[in-house]
Amino acid sequence: MDNTGGHLTRDGIRIYNRDDFAGMHTAGHLAAHILDELAPLVFPGQTTGVIDKAIEQMVNDAGATSATIGYKGYQHASCISVNHVVCHGIPGGKLLKDGDILNIDVTVIVDGWYGDTSRMYVAGKLPRKAERLIEVTHDALMLGIEAVKPGNTFGDIGHAIQSYVEAQRMSVVRDFCGHGLGRVFHAPPNVLHYGRAGTGPTLEEGMFFTIEPMVNLGRPETKVLADDWTAVTRDKSLSAQFEHSVGVTSDGVDIFTLSPAGVFHPTYTS
Ligand code: MF3
Ligand code: CO
Ligand code: CO
Repeated sequence: MDNTGGHLTRDGIRIYNRDDFAGMHTAGHLAAHILDELAPLVFPGQTTGVIDKAIEQMVNDAGATSATIGYKGYQHASCISVNHVVCHGIPGGKLLKDGDILNIDVTVIVDGWYGDTSRMYVAGKLPRKAERLIEVTHDALMLGIEAVKPGNTFGDIGHAIQSYVEAQRMSVVRDFCGHGLGRVFHAPPNVLHYGRAGTGPTLEEGMFFTIEPMVNLGRPETKVLADDWTAVTRDKSLSAQFEHSVGVTSDGVDIFTLSPAGVFHPTYTS
C-alpha cells in the first residue's frame, strides 16, 4: 500500500495518514512546551512533587489530558527520575540537592493524540561526570533519530545508539524501550536502543514511535523498587534519558516534540 495509511504492517505497526501528522504535532508541541517551562522550577531544596503539580496544572490549563494519571494505576502527571533512577521515578516530597540530575517525562493527550517527551535537568551546579553522561545520552538520541527513514530498520536505530554510547564507555539500558504511539500511549513495536544494523522491522512512511534511550555511567542492569514503578541502576551508577516522539516521512523523520523555545538540550543552563 502507498500513503493512504490506516493499516497495520505484518509486524502489527500502524501506518498513519498524512493528516495524522498534524495531530501528533499539536500534542507533541504541548508536551515539549511544558518541558520548556520547567527549568526555573528545578533547584536545590525543591521537591519533585511540586514540579509534578505544576506540570499537571499546565496540562489542565491547556485543556489537555495527562496520559499518565490513571495509566496502570499511576497517579502523577510526570515521571521524575533523579540520579541513579533510570525511569518511572514517582514525584514526591524528597528535596532535590545541589548537583542532582533528573529526567522529567511528560505525556499529554490532545484531541486523542499522544505527545511523549523527556529531558534532563540539574538542580544547582552540574557535576562534570553528569554533564558528560547527559551530553552522550542526548547525542545518542539524536543519532538514533538520524537513522529514521523509510527502508532503514529498527535495528539501525538501536545500533546507532548502542555503538555510540559504548564507544564512550557508557552503557545502554536493555530493560526499557521506546514504543509505537499515536492514538494510543504504547503500541508495537518495541523500539530497542541497542541491536544490529539491518535487523528488525523495516521503517515505513507513516509510522509513529518514540526513541528514549536510557544511558548509565556504570553497568546496564536495572531493578524495580517495591513501589512497582521506580527503576534504578543495580550498581547505583548515574543514569540519564532523553525522549522524542517522531514520525517517519517519505524521506526521513518528523520530530513531533521539538522544543518550541529551542532548549531541549541543554535545558539545565537556563
Ligand atoms: N512516558 C513514559 C514513556 O516514555 C511512560 C510513563 S508511564 C507511567 O513511555 F505510568 F509511568 F507514567
Ligand atoms: Co515513551
Ligand atoms: Co515518556
